[in-house]
Amino acid sequence: MRIGILGSGLMGGKLGTIFARAGHDVVFSYARSVKKLERLARDTGAEARAGTPREAAEGADVLLLAVHWSRVDDVLGKAGDLSGKIILTCSLPMNADDTALVVGHTSSGAEELARKTPRAHVVSAFGTVPSEVLFSVFGSREDERRPSLVYCGDDEHAKEVVAELIRDVGFDPVDAGPLTIARYIEPFTLLMGQLAYEGDGGPALAYRIERFAD
Ligand SMILES: NC(=O)c1ccc[n+]([C@@H]2O[C@H](COP(=O)([O-])OP(=O)(O)OC[C@H]3O[C@@H](n4cnc5c(N)ncnc54)[C@H](OP(=O)(O)O)[C@@H]3O)[C@@H](O)[C@H]2O)c1
Repeated sequence: MRIGILGSGLMGGKLGTIFARAGHDVVFSYARSVKKLERLARDTGAEARAGTPREAAEGADVLLLAVHWSRVDDVLGKAGDLSGKIILTCSLPMNADDTALVVGHTSSGAEELARKTPRAHVVSAFGTVPSEVLFSVFGSREDERRPSLVYCGDDEHAKEVVAELIRDVGFDPVDAGPLTIARYIEPFTLLMGQLAYEGDGGPALAYRIERFAD
């Protein structure tokens, strides 16, 4: 797949690196320094390059949106026409100091994003795990017992594509339903953040949904 990274920080930098190492063609974009984007692309040791958001979007099958909520309009404006694209978002609708969700209950960041990009197919995924765990999960992808990763969206094809990427990173994808379910997923992410950053065991943590017979 051709994957454009919109926001090449903690999440975008690591997920882009993993996607490239998993065999995808990745374009890193949107950081404050082009040198950083070039270094990220070089360090993947795989098929990756640096570009502008517009270059990342051109010809992309999937765009990973990984920016602070306050930067969403800016990066979307720079990316240009996203008609027909799959937008995989891990971005959370957080306030400026990252202490609270600014959208919730009756909507979600993912739904607001879908309203901003009505011709694209938005899937919410990867926001429920801290960036610190991503390389470890990728490194353990041959293990039988994979951690879960919930995702949601309204377009079935887009969800299948994203589920494949979730598997590539080393998670077991759990389809949580339509995009409105992001209203539940986004607050859950804050719980994961609490456990990761305020708990005793360090931030490299993931979760597993277990089902039992009745
Ligand atoms: N970090 C996590 O563990 C985590 C987990 C779940 C969800 N999330 C969500 O994922 C999203 C991304 O988080 P993150 O931690 O990856 O953020 P981050 O490390 O701050 O990355 C954001 C990216 O946007 C770039 N950027 C910011 N302002 C810019 C500007 N004015 N011009 C150009 N580029 C600019 C940054 O550039 P620089 O590289 O130059 O800083 C960086 O590459 C957020 O919505 C967050 O809530 C994060």
